[in-house]
Amino acid sequence: MSEIHLVVNRGNAGDERGWDESFYVRASKGMVVLDALWQVQEQVAPDLAVRWNCKAGKCGSCSAEINGYRLLLCKTRIDSLPAGQPITVQPMQTFARIKDLVTDVSWNYEINRALPPFRPRESSDWRWFQRDITRVQEMRKCIECFLCQDVCHVLRYQRTEKPRYAGARFYVRAAGLDYHPMDDRDRLAYLREEAGIELCNVTRCCTEVCPEGIRITDNAIIPPKERIVDRYADPIKALLRRMLRR
Ligand code: SF4
Ligand code: SF4
Ligand code: FES
Repeated sequence: MSEIHLVVNRGNAGDERGWDESFYVRASKGMVVLDALWQVQEQVAPDLAVRWNCKAGKCGSCSAEINGYRLLLCKTRIDSLPAGQPITVQPMQTFARIKDLVTDVSWNYEINRALPPFRPRESSDWRWFQRDITRVQEMRKCIECFLCQDVCHVLRYQRTEKPRYAGARFYVRAAGLDYHPMDDRDRLAYLREEAGIELCNVTRCCTEVCPEGIRITDNAIIPPKERIVDRYADPIKALLRRMLRR
Protein backbone atom coordinates (compact mmCIF):
# COMPACT_ATOMS: atom_id res chain seq x y z
CA MET A 1 0.00 0.00 0.00
CA SER A 2 1.64 3.28 -1.02
CA GLU A 3 -1.03 5.75 -2.04
CA ILE A 4 -4.61 6.23 -0.95
CA HIS A 5 -7.29 7.73 -3.16
CA LEU A 6 -9.84 9.58 -1.05
CA VAL A 7 -13.08 10.93 -2.49
CA VAL A 8 -14.38 13.46 0.01
CA ASN A 9 -17.83 14.97 -0.25
CA ARG A 10 -17.45 18.67 0.45
CA GLY A 11 -19.93 21.53 0.75
CA ASN A 12 -21.10 24.50 2.74
CA ALA A 13 -24.14 24.99 4.97
CA GLY A 14 -27.35 24.43 3.03
CA ASP A 15 -25.51 22.57 0.27
CA GLU A 16 -26.66 19.05 1.13
CA ARG A 17 -25.44 17.34 -2.04
CA GLY A 18 -22.14 19.21 -2.18
CA TRP A 19 -19.42 18.04 -4.54
CA ASP A 20 -16.90 15.20 -4.52
CA GLU A 21 -13.23 16.07 -4.46
CA SER A 22 -10.40 13.57 -5.00
CA PHE A 23 -7.25 13.59 -2.92
CA TYR A 24 -4.22 11.29 -3.01
CA VAL A 25 -2.24 10.79 0.19
CA ARG A 26 0.65 8.64 1.32
CA ALA A 27 -0.27 5.43 3.12
CA SER A 28 1.47 4.21 6.26
CA LYS A 29 1.10 1.22 8.55
CA GLY A 30 -1.81 1.31 10.97
CA MET A 31 -3.24 4.47 9.43
CA VAL A 32 -6.89 5.36 9.98
CA VAL A 33 -9.14 7.46 7.75
CA LEU A 34 -8.72 10.46 10.06
CA ASP A 35 -4.93 10.32 9.50
CA ALA A 36 -5.53 10.45 5.76
CA LEU A 37 -7.79 13.50 6.16
CA TRP A 38 -5.15 15.21 8.31
CA GLN A 39 -2.66 14.72 5.48
CA VAL A 40 -5.14 16.34 3.11
CA GLN A 41 -5.50 19.28 5.50
CA GLU A 42 -1.74 19.60 5.94
CA GLN A 43 -0.71 19.28 2.32
CA VAL A 44 -3.54 20.18 -0.03
CA ALA A 45 -6.72 21.59 1.46
CA PRO A 46 -6.23 23.37 4.80
CA ASP A 47 -9.85 24.51 4.66
CA LEU A 48 -11.24 20.95 4.72
CA ALA A 49 -13.57 20.81 7.74
CA VAL A 50 -13.56 17.65 9.85
CA ARG A 51 -14.56 17.33 13.50
CA TRP A 52 -12.55 15.24 15.95
CA ASN A 53 -11.32 15.47 19.52
CA CYS A 54 -9.85 12.31 21.02
CA LYS A 55 -8.67 10.12 18.11
CA ALA A 56 -9.39 7.23 20.44
CA GLY A 57 -12.98 6.30 19.64
CA LYS A 58 -14.26 7.88 22.84
CA CYS A 59 -15.48 11.42 22.19
CA GLY A 60 -17.99 10.51 19.46
CA SER A 61 -17.24 13.59 17.36
CA CYS A 62 -15.69 12.11 14.18
CA SER A 63 -18.76 10.23 12.89
CA ALA A 64 -19.04 10.00 9.11
CA GLU A 65 -20.03 7.72 6.26
CA ILE A 66 -17.06 5.82 4.83
CA ASN A 67 -17.75 3.83 1.68
CA GLY A 68 -21.41 4.23 2.64
CA TYR A 69 -20.98 2.70 6.13
CA ARG A 70 -21.57 4.68 9.32
CA LEU A 71 -18.22 4.69 11.07
CA LEU A 72 -15.86 6.72 13.23
CA LEU A 73 -13.07 8.30 11.17
CA CYS A 74 -10.56 7.66 13.96
CA LYS A 75 -11.38 3.97 14.35
CA THR A 76 -11.55 2.94 10.70
CA ARG A 77 -8.23 1.55 9.57
CA ILE A 78 -7.31 2.01 5.96
CA ASP A 79 -6.28 -1.66 5.74
CA SER A 80 -9.81 -2.71 6.76
CA LEU A 81 -11.21 -1.15 3.56
CA PRO A 82 -11.08 -2.72 0.08
CA ALA A 83 -7.55 -2.34 -1.25
CA GLY A 84 -6.88 -0.48 -4.49
CA GLN A 85 -10.26 1.24 -4.56
CA PRO A 86 -11.14 4.86 -3.82
CA ILE A 87 -12.37 5.49 -0.28
CA THR A 88 -15.46 7.69 -0.18
CA VAL A 89 -16.00 9.91 2.85
CA GLN A 90 -19.29 11.74 3.36
CA PRO A 91 -20.80 13.63 6.28
CA MET A 92 -23.67 12.01 8.19
CA GLN A 93 -26.63 12.37 5.85
CA THR A 94 -29.36 12.59 8.49
CA PHE A 95 -28.07 15.90 9.84
CA ALA A 96 -27.66 19.22 8.08
CA ARG A 97 -24.18 20.04 6.90
CA ILE A 98 -22.27 22.89 8.53
CA LYS A 99 -19.20 22.51 6.34
CA ASP A 100 -17.65 19.56 4.52
CA LEU A 101 -17.70 16.60 6.95
CA VAL A 102 -19.06 18.55 9.91
CA THR A 103 -22.79 18.30 10.58
CA ASP A 104 -25.17 20.04 12.94
CA VAL A 105 -26.23 17.49 15.56
CA SER A 106 -27.78 20.04 17.95
CA TRP A 107 -31.26 18.61 17.35
CA ASN A 108 -30.19 15.69 19.54
CA TYR A 109 -29.55 18.00 22.48
CA GLU A 110 -33.10 19.33 22.24
CA ILE A 111 -34.41 15.77 22.39
CA ASN A 112 -32.14 15.11 25.36
CA ARG A 113 -33.59 18.06 27.25
CA ALA A 114 -37.14 16.68 26.83
CA LEU A 115 -36.28 13.27 28.29
CA PRO A 116 -37.53 12.85 31.89
CA PRO A 117 -34.34 12.88 33.99
CA PHE A 118 -33.24 10.62 36.86
CA ARG A 119 -35.44 10.89 39.94
CA PRO A 120 -34.14 9.10 43.03
CA ARG A 121 -36.37 7.00 45.22
CA GLU A 122 -37.19 8.43 48.62
CA SER A 123 -35.51 7.06 51.78
CA SER A 124 -33.83 4.07 50.22
CA ASP A 125 -30.76 2.06 50.89
CA TRP A 126 -28.26 3.27 48.31
CA ARG A 127 -26.32 0.02 48.18
CA TRP A 128 -26.64 -2.31 45.25
CA PHE A 129 -24.88 -5.22 43.62
CA GLN A 130 -23.03 -5.45 40.33
CA ARG A 131 -25.87 -7.53 38.89
CA ASP A 132 -28.23 -4.60 39.53
CA ILE A 133 -26.23 -2.19 37.40
CA THR A 134 -24.77 -4.31 34.59
CA ARG A 135 -27.51 -3.18 32.22
CA VAL A 136 -27.10 0.45 33.31
CA GLN A 137 -23.38 0.25 32.56
CA GLU A 138 -24.06 -1.08 29.07
CA MET A 139 -26.29 1.92 28.32
CA ARG A 140 -23.79 4.34 29.87
CA LYS A 141 -21.11 3.29 27.38
CA CYS A 142 -22.74 5.55 24.78
CA ILE A 143 -20.28 8.13 23.41
CA GLU A 144 -22.99 10.16 21.64
CA CYS A 145 -21.54 9.64 18.19
CA PHE A 146 -25.09 9.67 16.76
CA LEU A 147 -24.23 7.01 14.20
CA CYS A 148 -27.34 5.14 15.37
CA GLN A 149 -29.39 8.24 14.61
CA ASP A 150 -27.69 8.63 11.24
CA VAL A 151 -28.45 5.08 10.12
CA CYS A 152 -32.07 5.01 11.31
CA HIS A 153 -34.44 5.13 8.36
CA VAL A 154 -37.17 6.74 10.44
CA LEU A 155 -34.97 9.76 11.03
CA ARG A 156 -33.26 9.75 7.66
CA TYR A 157 -36.14 9.38 5.26
CA GLN A 158 -39.03 10.64 7.33
CA ARG A 159 -37.61 13.91 8.45
CA THR A 160 -41.06 15.19 9.35
CA GLU A 161 -41.14 12.52 12.05
CA LYS A 162 -38.12 14.01 13.75
CA PRO A 163 -40.02 16.15 16.23
CA ARG A 164 -41.84 13.08 17.54
CA TYR A 165 -39.15 10.47 17.10
CA ALA A 166 -36.31 10.55 19.57
CA GLY A 167 -34.22 7.81 17.96
CA ALA A 168 -32.00 5.02 19.21
CA ARG A 169 -29.56 7.18 21.16
CA PHE A 170 -32.39 8.40 23.39
CA TYR A 171 -33.99 4.99 23.79
CA VAL A 172 -30.57 3.98 25.11
CA ARG A 173 -30.50 6.94 27.49
CA ALA A 174 -34.04 6.28 28.70
CA ALA A 175 -33.17 2.60 29.26
CA GLY A 176 -30.05 3.55 31.22
CA LEU A 177 -32.24 5.63 33.54
CA ASP A 178 -35.06 3.07 33.74
CA TYR A 179 -32.66 0.25 34.65
CA HIS A 180 -31.05 2.27 37.43
CA PRO A 181 -31.98 0.58 40.72
CA MET A 182 -32.61 3.92 42.44
CA ASP A 183 -34.69 5.62 39.75
CA ASP A 184 -38.44 5.73 40.37
CA ARG A 185 -39.69 7.52 37.27
CA ASP A 186 -42.04 5.91 34.74
CA ARG A 187 -40.96 6.84 31.20
CA LEU A 188 -43.34 4.62 29.22
CA ALA A 189 -45.83 7.37 28.41
CA TYR A 190 -42.97 9.62 27.31
CA LEU A 191 -41.49 6.90 25.08
CA ARG A 192 -44.85 6.19 23.49
CA GLU A 193 -46.34 9.64 23.16
CA GLU A 194 -43.37 11.97 22.75
CA ALA A 195 -40.40 9.82 21.75
CA GLY A 196 -42.25 7.81 19.09
CA ILE A 197 -40.73 4.44 19.99
CA GLU A 198 -43.67 2.67 18.33
CA LEU A 199 -42.44 3.93 14.93
CA CYS A 200 -39.26 1.89 15.34
CA ASN A 201 -39.65 -1.36 13.42
CA VAL A 202 -36.67 -3.06 15.06
CA THR A 203 -34.52 -3.31 11.97
CA ARG A 204 -31.40 -3.47 14.21
CA CYS A 205 -29.38 -1.15 11.95
CA CYS A 206 -28.62 1.03 14.99
CA THR A 207 -27.17 -1.93 16.87
CA GLU A 208 -24.99 -2.86 13.90
CA VAL A 209 -23.32 0.55 13.70
CA CYS A 210 -22.84 1.26 17.42
CA PRO A 211 -19.08 1.56 18.01
CA GLU A 212 -19.58 0.74 21.69
CA GLY A 213 -21.33 -2.53 20.92
CA ILE A 214 -24.46 -1.56 22.84
CA ARG A 215 -27.23 -4.06 22.08
CA ILE A 216 -29.60 -1.20 21.35
CA THR A 217 -32.55 -3.08 19.91
CA ASP A 218 -32.45 -6.05 22.28
CA ASN A 219 -31.80 -4.14 25.47
CA ALA A 220 -33.08 -0.60 24.95
CA ILE A 221 -35.91 -0.82 22.43
CA ILE A 222 -37.63 -4.20 22.62
CA PRO A 223 -38.15 -4.22 26.45
CA PRO A 224 -39.99 -0.86 26.58
CA LYS A 225 -41.94 -1.75 23.43
CA GLU A 226 -43.14 -4.93 25.16
CA ARG A 227 -44.08 -3.00 28.27
CA ILE A 228 -46.01 -0.50 26.13
CA VAL A 229 -47.98 -3.33 24.53
CA ASP A 230 -48.68 -4.82 27.97
CA ARG A 231 -49.89 -1.53 29.31
CA TYR A 232 -51.71 0.04 26.38
CA ALA A 233 -52.84 -2.83 24.15
CA ASP A 234 -54.03 -5.31 26.75
CA PRO A 235 -57.86 -4.91 26.54
CA ILE A 236 -58.43 -5.77 30.20
CA LYS A 237 -55.83 -3.30 31.41
CA ALA A 238 -57.22 -0.66 29.03
CA LEU A 239 -60.75 -1.22 30.43
CA LEU A 240 -59.47 -0.99 33.99
CA ARG A 241 -57.62 2.21 33.15
CA ARG A 242 -60.78 3.77 31.69
CA MET A 243 -62.79 2.72 34.73
CA LEU A 244 -60.22 4.14 37.12
CA ARG A 245 -60.19 7.44 35.24
CA ARG A 246 -63.94 7.91 35.80
S1 SF4 B 1 -34.10 -0.57 15.19
FE1 SF4 B 1 -35.48 1.20 15.33
S2 SF4 B 1 -34.20 2.90 16.11
FE2 SF4 B 1 -32.81 1.26 15.37
S3 SF4 B 1 -32.36 1.86 13.26
FE3 SF4 B 1 -34.10 0.42 13.18
S4 SF4 B 1 -35.95 1.72 13.20
FE4 SF4 B 1 -34.20 3.02 13.86
S1 SF4 C 1 -25.89 4.27 21.20
FE1 SF4 C 1 -23.98 3.70 20.13
S2 SF4 C 1 -24.27 4.46 18.04
FE2 SF4 C 1 -25.80 5.48 19.32
S3 SF4 C 1 -24.88 7.42 19.93
FE3 SF4 C 1 -24.42 5.94 21.55
S4 SF4 C 1 -22.44 5.06 21.01
FE4 SF4 C 1 -23.19 6.09 19.18
S1 FES D 1 -12.02 11.62 17.42
FE1 FES D 1 -13.07 10.99 19.23
S2 FES D 1 -14.27 9.31 18.57
FE2 FES D 1 -13.07 9.82 16.83
